[in-house]
Amino acid sequence: MKNVEIKTQIVVYDSVEELPYSVQELMNKAIETKRNAYAPYSKFKVGAALLLDNGKVITGNNQENAAYPSGMCAERVAIWKASSEYPNSKVIQLAISASSSTQITKEPVAPCGACRQTLSEYEIKQDNKIEVFFMGEVGKVIKTNSLLDLLPIAFDKSFL
Ligand code: THU
Repeated sequence: MKNVEIKTQIVVYDSVEELPYSVQELMNKAIETKRNAYAPYSKFKVGAALLLDNGKVITGNNQENAAYPSGMCAERVAIWKASSEYPNSKVIQLAISASSSTQITKEPVAPCGACRQTLSEYEIKQDNKIEVFFMGEVGKVIKTNSLLDLLPIAFDKSFL
């Protein structure tokens, strides 16, 4: 038996203004697309923006459904949109912002487990890390260098 320590490094920015300018622009796209989220049930709107290696920015927002499990998160809307439109492009960066209509979300909102799993598939497929930046409505932004930093010991194709 042995104990194994797994470490994840994150960078915490005090605000959007502290991010490199190009990332601020990407985060602004995530904030912009958040407005188009369809979230009448949770009142929690999420926006995601992906930067591809061809320079395109692909956005997505959460889309809810009266049959709750039929709804979808912003990150998966965005990555599936990107992969279906540009299957051979690599994703360089992902920016996420979330807001609630019932309170001001001040803490960075991390992608859910299912989104981490989905996104990790594409990070592994493209063999290049995806930088992830996430925030709430205001305040701090967290950066991870890779999807797998958010999902250690992931399930992937090597098990199949
Ligand atoms: N949501 C996202 O869009 N992304 C996440 O990573 C977490 C949750 C959405 C799903 C649902 O529409 C609402 O936020 C509340 O869970």
